[in-house]
Amino acid sequence: MLIRHPDAILPSEITPPEIYRERRRFMQGMGALAAGTALGTLDDAHAGIKLAGVRTSPYTLDEARTPFKDITTYNNFYEFGTGKSDPAENAGSLRTRPWTVAIEGEVRKPKTWDIDALLRLAPLEERVYRMRCVEGWSMVIPWVGFPLAELLRRVEPTGKARYVEFVSLNDPKQMPGQRSRVLDWPYVEGLRLDEAMHPLTLMTMGLYGEVLPNQNGAPIRLVVPWKYGFKSAKSIVKIRLVEKQPVSSWTRANPDEYGFYSNVNPQVDHPRWSQAKERRIGEFFKRDTLMFNGYANQVAQLYRGMDLKKYY
Ligand code: MTE
Repeated sequence: MLIRHPDAILPSEITPPEIYRERRRFMQGMGALAAGTALGTLDDAHAGIKLAGVRTSPYTLDEARTPFKDITTYNNFYEFGTGKSDPAENAGSLRTRPWTVAIEGEVRKPKTWDIDALLRLAPLEERVYRMRCVEGWSMVIPWVGFPLAELLRRVEPTGKARYVEFVSLNDPKQMPGQRSRVLDWPYVEGLRLDEAMHPLTLMTMGLYGEVLPNQNGAPIRLVVPWKYGFKSAKSIVKIRLVEKQPVSSWTRANPDEYGFYSNVNPQVDHPRWSQAKERRIGEFFKRDTLMFNGYANQVAQLYRGMDLKKYY
């Protein structure tokens, strides 16, 4: 057996790689946090803090990215108001620490995760995805996160789990928009289990390499790039695996306009407008909307044999 001087041993040799990676990420985050305190208080979000150890992903798109400013000032987050600039103006009241996410329901290992443990659950990846809002605008966004499947595998879904329900924070003190009844709070969304397990489905904690700004759904949100943006629930506190198809907030509000699937589909119009084209934020001319938002090669097989006009 070879005994070396302790100084000659790299931390990576004595620490399991995952823990080592987490520690580095945490320490780099702390450095940024310390630097950031000169600019703002610790409480007013962690935005602006660089996420360390982010790797690039083969699932990333090579398309011009929407500027950070547009992604963070033109938002839908009704908990902070219904205007596009309301979330950026009002989401400063959201406290993203402490924060927990409970995973429960039809799982063998239910668990309530502290957000910082969740952040270190799997390697973080940058994924440049198209985002198509049901209202007809789109962006190209470099998200940072890891596949939701990583998390679901760890809780071991039972044989009864067929759907996954996502529940956003319900706290009118922090979320002034919840004092109005525009939606039935909390915001709820859902996916079929196979959609949730699909490698494109991302648990998202960052944007442009930094911690997610509050208005984009801090500290953790869902991103499902082949579905209209409203499926991508923000500021999630609970994930429930269930037997029956969940009723999402938008379906509850208007079932004729917002179905459970809500796959981006240029051939199925919204009852009040066409979905054939979209306006990419920053561009003048409209462009054609692509089937499954351009992700047909990856996801079309999930819907083989289904009438997508019926299951809109
Ligand atoms: N999640 C919650 N909790 N509340 C919301 O109002 N809006 C949805 C979705 N997630 C929403 C939400 C809609 S309509 C869209 S288009 C996207 O978030 C917008 O995400 P972005 O503001 O980061 O672009």
